Amino acid sequence: MTSAPRGVPSTAMGHWLTTIAMVVVCVPSLCGCHRSNPRGAKSAPAPQPAHSGKAHHGSRDIGDYIRRMESADRAAWQKPDEVIAALNLRPGERIADVGCGPGYFTLLLAEAVGPTGKVWAVDVKAEMLDRLREHIAERELSNIEPQLVPENDPRLPPGQVDTVFIVNTYHHFSYRPVYVSKLRRALAPGGRIVIIDFIPKSREERGFGPKLEMQLDRATIDREMAASGLQPAAVHTFLPEQYFVEYRVKQ
Ligand SMILES: C[S@@+](CC[C@H](N)C(=O)[O-])C[C@H]1O[C@@H](n2cnc3c(N)ncnc32)[C@H](O)[C@@H]1O
Repeated sequence: MTSAPRGVPSTAMGHWLTTIAMVVVCVPSLCGCHRSNPRGAKSAPAPQPAHSGKAHHGSRDIGDYIRRMESADRAAWQKPDEVIAALNLRPGERIADVGCGPGYFTLLLAEAVGPTGKVWAVDVKAEMLDRLREHIAERELSNIEPQLVPENDPRLPPGQVDTVFIVNTYHHFSYRPVYVSKLRRALAPGGRIVIIDFIPKSREERGFGPKLEMQLDRATIDREMAASGLQPAAVHTFLPEQYFVEYRVKQ
């Protein structure tokens, strides 16, 4: 039996354990990421290990996490068709969907670039790629390459990616400035890095999304991109909960 720490009466110990249990069992959310070293939403000056890709967003069950990512309700705020239209993709374009998850956007990207195009679907979790493979098989798509990668490297071929696409994932990356430099190396001449991520807001206010302390504001991302020589080239403002920015190499 667990005994109370010295000086803690046993009734207080009961309350104490209840409180801890309530904190551990996280509020379900689409994107309720765990992070071992929470930091302020505003900025993160030094590279730090993020809550790793091993944590799956506050959900104790990865199947539940995948279901929430694929939920039909998501379209109301994620506006996937408008996002794809705004990207203005051309047939034959080569895209890396980094942190692709079960493929919510991957499948739309693959459709938009057509059979002459290519999508590298990159994730750190095998379960995500397993689910994506099911979708690929159902739709008989031949232009998606699922790729299981380590947390610190997207393992993309240098100079060959026209669009690196990162949705609700940038805030997961460990050692982000180094990670961004790897993404930049993958860009083909004239290529872009597209980031969509949550505008910092508490879960109580939004009702879903990562914990506030895990969210990053746009200014932080602009700074980290600038450190790799990238600057905002287009900003789309139609997503109610997220910023959506295209970065290109500064000329
Ligand atoms: C919130 S989900 C977003 C998935 C997808 N982009 C979407 O919008 O539906 C974040 C995904 O990023 C993956 N991830 C986390 N850290 C990663 C890393 N360092 N490299 C690649 N993928 C990562 C997670 O496994 C998860 O599938």
